[in-house]
This record gives sequence, C-alpha cells and structure tokens, in this order.
Amino acid sequence: MNGTLNNNFIRKRLAILFIGMQICTGYSCSKNGSIENQSTPLSKVSLIPLPQSLQYGSSNLSLTKETTISRDIEGIPHELLKITLMQVLGSSSISNAANEEAFIRISKDNTLGDEGYRINIDESINLSYKTTEGLLWGIQTLRQILLQHSTTQNSLINIPKLIISDTPKKTWRGFHIDLARHMFNLSYLKKIADVLSFYKINKLQLHLTDDQGWRIEVKKYPMLTMQGGWREFDEYDKRCIELSNSDIDFTIDSRFIRNNSEYGGYYTQEEMKDFITYATKRGIDVIPEIDMPGHFSAAIKVFPELSCTGQAGWGKEFSYPICAGRMESYAFIKNILDEISALFPSEYIHIGADEVEMDNWKKCERCQGLIQEKNLKDVNGLKNYFVEQIATYAKSKGKTVMAWDDAYIGNNPQDLLYTYWRDWLPDEPGEITQKGYPLIFMEWGHFYLSATPSDDLLKSLYQFNLEPKFQGILKNKFLGYQACVWTEMIPNERKFGQHTFPSLQAFAELAWGSDRNWSNFTERLPWHLQWLTQNGIHSRTPGFIK
Ligand code: ACM
Ligand code: ZN
Repeated sequence: MNGTLNNNFIRKRLAILFIGMQICTGYSCSKNGSIENQSTPLSKVSLIPLPQSLQYGSSNLSLTKETTISRDIEGIPHELLKITLMQVLGSSSISNAANEEAFIRISKDNTLGDEGYRINIDESINLSYKTTEGLLWGIQTLRQILLQHSTTQNSLINIPKLIISDTPKKTWRGFHIDLARHMFNLSYLKKIADVLSFYKINKLQLHLTDDQGWRIEVKKYPMLTMQGGWREFDEYDKRCIELSNSDIDFTIDSRFIRNNSEYGGYYTQEEMKDFITYATKRGIDVIPEIDMPGHFSAAIKVFPELSCTGQAGWGKEFSYPICAGRMESYAFIKNILDEISALFPSEYIHIGADEVEMDNWKKCERCQGLIQEKNLKDVNGLKNYFVEQIATYAKSKGKTVMAWDDAYIGNNPQDLLYTYWRDWLPDEPGEITQKGYPLIFMEWGHFYLSATPSDDLLKSLYQFNLEPKFQGILKNKFLGYQACVWTEMIPNERKFGQHTFPSLQAFAELAWGSDRNWSNFTERLPWHLQWLTQNGIHSRTPGFIK
C-alpha cells in the first residue's frame, strides 16, 4: 500500500471514527485483559519494511499489564516478544497462557507463503504463520507495532487495530560485512544481527579473509590467525589516523591495535560458533567467505610458498594470487574448507574469486605446465579450473558454492551461485540467469554502503530498479538482493553505523519487495533512527530529518 492510499484510507477511517465517537463515549472492558478505547485518536505505525497489505481498523486496542503470551510461541521469538512487552508496559514480568486463552495467540495457516504471516489486532492479537521464519517475521512486525504504541493522558498504552498480510517477494535478503580490512567485536555483531532480524534480513555473509587479515581460526594452521591476523598499519590505517586528527569518526578502534603500529585480531571457532547460534535463532543464515585465489596475501605472507614467486606481493592492480599450478595449494585450501564447512552450518559457502591478478600465472612454470596438461588454453582457463576444483570439493561437503561474478566465464560457466557486483558489465546478470545459474544482486553503485553516505545515495538505493540498465534477468533465478559494507575506511562501530543506517532500512524495503514510496518512507524513518539510538547503534541522520 503506498503512502497516498494509506493516507486516504486513514482519513476515511478517522471520519468513521469521528461519527462513531458521537455515539459511544468512554471505554468498555473486553476479555483477555484489554480495555477497548474508543475516545482517543487512532494510533498509526511506521513499519519497515512496509508490509504487502496493511488495513487499519476503526479504533485502538489498549494493552494492560495482564497481557499474556501464548505458550506455543517458543524460543527467541517468545523472548523478543516478552522483553518488548515488558518495556512497553513497564512491567517486570509477562505471563504465559495456553494458546486459546492468551491475549497474543498464534495459529498455523498453510495457505500463507513460506515466510509469510498475518497479524490481526482486534479485541486481542492473532498471528498466523506457516513456517518458523514466518512466525519470527510476524513477531518482528508486532514488536515494531508495540514499540510504537501511543500513551494517552490517562496512561493507556494504545496500538491500532489492524490487519496485516505480508510475505516477501524474494527469499534472499542479504547483508555482507568485510571483517578483514577492519573488524568488529562479536558482541557488536550480535547487536547488528538483532537489527538485521528486526528488518527481516535473513542472510549475513562474513568476508573473513583478504590481503589485509585472516580473521577466522583454522586449527590446522594456527599461524593463519596468529600471524596472518595482524598487519603493520597499511595505507588505509594511515589515512584513517591522519583523518582522525580532525574527525574522530575515523579513529581506529584501539581494541584491535598493538604496539601502536599494528592492526589485527581474529575470531576463535568457539566464538564464531556462539555468534552463528545467536544469529541463526534470529532467522539469519551466516555464510562464510574465504576469498581465493586472489585477495589471499594474509595467508601467503605466512606461507609464502603458496604463491608462484615464493613471496607475497602486488601486481599491476591486485595482490599476487595463490599458485594455481601447485598441487599443495589445493591441499592447503581443502584443509581450510574442511574446517570452515564444519564450523558454519549454512548450506552456502562463498569462495570469492574476484579480482585475480593473473600475471604471475603467465610467467610461472607450474601454472603453465598445468595449463598444458589440462588443455586449459590460457590463464583464464586456469582460473576456471581452480574455481571448479575448489567448488567441486566444497560441493562434496554438501555446500552450495557462491562466488563473485568475476568467476563467471560465458563460454564455460561453472555451476555456482553468483554474487553480481561489477556494474560495468550490465548484460552479465541477465546472461547468468538465462544460462540457468542463480544470482544475488549487489551491484556496487547502489549496494556498496561503504561509499560516502548521502541523501542522494540513500534515495537512489531506495528507488533502485533493475531496469532499464539490467535487462533480461530471469525471475526464477534471481534470488534477491544483498547490501555490503567494505571497511577499508570504516575503522570503528560509530563509522560502521553511519554507513549502514539508514541505508539498511531503505535496502530492507527493496529486498522484501514492499511497494516503495520515497516520501512515505521518509515519514516512517525517524522512529527507526530513534530506535537505533536507543539501542546504542549509530546512524547517519539524513538532511530531510534534521
Ligand atoms: C569486490 O568488490 N571485489 C567483490
Ligand atoms: Zn604458479
């Protein structure tokens, strides 16, 4: 429902309410601990992402401290709802009740979409769902409604009576964080997971390795993190330090600095397991990315024999890649994939494959030898061979393998899930899907939240449409969108928040497939920025809100 429709609808509803108020005055008590309140203005809510359908009723529902939650709502959804109600009602506890008796009830409805839900707020609150995901998203919507209650002069907590029917248009609503350039504590990433879940984002890709650092423990190769997790301040660190003299937002988080000259740190497998459990319970699938054969310097510095030249280094544009002609390289990577596949229960694993500098491969005897032996023609063929070997191994571990679209070779494509980012190849996503391969869209001009944030960028992300630039993308192979934050110039939580919010709210609405209306969005946004602040998350305040 767009803003105009919504407003017309509300105006009509207000008129009906006004007529109603001439007839009935005061409050009447209803069952289940609510007090029906018919003499105060209608409450309204600012939901993000906007549900597919929202119809306001003609009065408010007032909540009391006797509000009960169905015992059939379990686990984290129950906890989230309970904490929210305690906060809203100023109550130190909320009771449970049998589903039929409870004020907030649930019911299974197999006619709904897989992640769909329906909320009916009338004399009580009913939430219908088909799957556990649908139930969770319904609870998150309900939390937004409850948190946006109005309080009357005589302290009644009002929410609007309404019917919401909602389901996402796309199954993949992803977010990606680069933890290699600058990293964040898992306690902060848990807060980010809370926010992602609040906005129904259901995938989180962690970019765990790159030239600038190796961030995940691999038990077989402890030096990957002990040594590869650290770097002498690089050019970005130095730039951040320089800028921080006049802008504290560029201050590097001191928890990741040692000896005043090195940046680093890593996550143990136990810590990551704990984070994955936390995020999974909030509906988020945590996907690891181990970037290869390029962007691999953190490992090559520790094991220099992995590169063609026997040392880490930099080519014309990108870092020296792994030597793809050396069989030990494959064994090394497979050992890493064994541990990463076991650690991350996700169906997905991302193997990078972006920005591979292939000059070394042209000069390397072993690489050239393998090209001849396997009849691969040239270094592009070698890259494709490398990707195929690694993908086949990851698949043998039951994974669906993801790679950046750099891995797509038109005349010999690999069966991968492609994350498309290179907007200078606008025909590629259409071609990938037409050849039968699935695609996640994260084109850098709109979905890279690491760009200096502005109101214009926010608006263009919110209003993004595939066409006319990206044509021919087959719907059934287009899984959805993903936004990403690359952290070269994002060295602390404050800066991360400024880049991520409110872009993430705009993204959530696009990714969910809501009817989008910019001016309506700008009206709904302020409450959400306040909510972030209350929860200790930084954001950028757009010019239209100041
Ligand atoms: C990328 O931005 N190199 C995927
Ligand atoms: Zn080589």
